[in-house]
Amino acid sequence: MYQIDLTLPPPEEEPQRQQYFIEKCRRSVQAFYEKNHRFPRACIKTFGCQMNARDSEKLLGILTQAGYVETEDEQADLVLYNTCTVRENANNKVYGHLGTLAGYKKKNPEMKIALCGCMMQEQEVVERIRTGYRFVDLIFGTHNLYRFAELLCRCLESDSMVVDIWNDTDKIVEELPNKRKYSFKSGVNIMFGCNNFCSYCIVPYVRGRERSRKPQEIIREIEALVSDGVCEVMLLGQNVNSYGKNLETEVTFAQLLRRINEIEGLQRIRFMTSHPKDLSEELIEAIRDCDKVCHHLHLPLQSGSTRILKEMNRRYTKEQYLNLVDKLRSAVPDIAITTDIIVGFPGETEEDFEETLDVVRRVRFDSAFTFLYSKRTGTPAAAMKDQIPPETAKKRFDRLLAEVQTISAEKAMLLQGRTLPVLVEEINRQDASLVSGRLSNNSVVHFAGNEAMIGKIYPVRLEECRGFYYIGRAVSDA
Ligand code: 5AD
Ligand code: SF4
Repeated sequence: MYQIDLTLPPPEEEPQRQQYFIEKCRRSVQAFYEKNHRFPRACIKTFGCQMNARDSEKLLGILTQAGYVETEDEQADLVLYNTCTVRENANNKVYGHLGTLAGYKKKNPEMKIALCGCMMQEQEVVERIRTGYRFVDLIFGTHNLYRFAELLCRCLESDSMVVDIWNDTDKIVEELPNKRKYSFKSGVNIMFGCNNFCSYCIVPYVRGRERSRKPQEIIREIEALVSDGVCEVMLLGQNVNSYGKNLETEVTFAQLLRRINEIEGLQRIRFMTSHPKDLSEELIEAIRDCDKVCHHLHLPLQSGSTRILKEMNRRYTKEQYLNLVDKLRSAVPDIAITTDIIVGFPGETEEDFEETLDVVRRVRFDSAFTFLYSKRTGTPAAAMKDQIPPETAKKRFDRLLAEVQTISAEKAMLLQGRTLPVLVEEINRQDASLVSGRLSNNSVVHFAGNEAMIGKIYPVRLEECRGFYYIGRAVSDA
């Protein structure tokens, strides 16, 4: 690493500028050490999706390089919440937790409290925190996350709240430190933002417009990860199927997959999230042909009613969705299909809901995340007439959940007795004589093992299906 001279002004270009500020943070960590005879402890709490989880690894990478010690205990010297705002209850959770942090800060007045992520891109949230939660020290958003080191420096030098939120950006800054949660698998951002504007969804407003990373950069990152012990990558984007559309030389997601599949040493490729409207034949063929691409597709349905889908601005019909599933299954017969479904969208009638149940019964999803519709200020759906009474929505939600659960249990049972490859992820949290891992289709398997098996793939006989997971037995070595 080159020497960073802090007597000079910070460089303008990235990522050198952030390296400069990491070094500056390191100096204040040293000062902390001299005063307290210990390193400062930092706790990052992540809410929401895989994109946030990946962002938190980047934030932790910066903190670790600056000299902070990671802790899960929120009674730390720095607590950073990486927030989500996709549904109202995600926001409420953050406000609830902040109350607890205020108490910790009373005991340790030098503690710093920082908030970032999607929720901070909402103006009302930032106003509410500025006025009602004045003990918060730093707020930043999704577009300037790469500037964390710089913002932290400002925060460490200041007694008042530092707030820096950008409305959008066309910049992608990578190549900053990051600290992976798992040694053998990693998320890889292939694109940022979303242009779809589904009428219920706040994501396009808080994550900005779609921007794809160049294929060479993605490949270089994955190659570096593989040489660092990674064998599984999860390609991340709000709508990976429209990858590459804004690049100078257009590249499709299918072409990208084929190139990643060539990377030597890589064993498994996953991706999320797919949008049905952009799921091309070309992509289905790529999934079929690429041996490293896992046989699992997360394909959000949202609703089975063509009328509601139109109101949701999803741009596909019930029949088109069912057709897609047929095509996928004829190309890749053992592919697991999972989904997201929203219940109680404005105007949803009993008949519309029955259409959703109908799709669930016909497709027989391997699993489904079900959500009660949550009204998000500023989205078109929030202004729609005929919001559904919570009791009605809840009743439908319970009916849907029962259906989804019965079907997933039945589907899981079909694999009982088979021997399939399992990538070992961790020691089982309840029973340390077991390891837990995943099948290509993403289902969880527990079987006897030890720490040395983590990150390797074993053929495992699925002895017993217990609803959503299996108890297995390794039939040979990795
Ligand atoms: N209410 C309920 N669920 C929502 N989702 C997105 N926005 C909302 C909302 N306003 C769900 C969708 C999406 C998943 C990540 O969250 O199902 O696929
Ligand atoms: Fe939201 Fe639709 Fe974009 Fe997904 S595709 S993030 S649901 S707007």
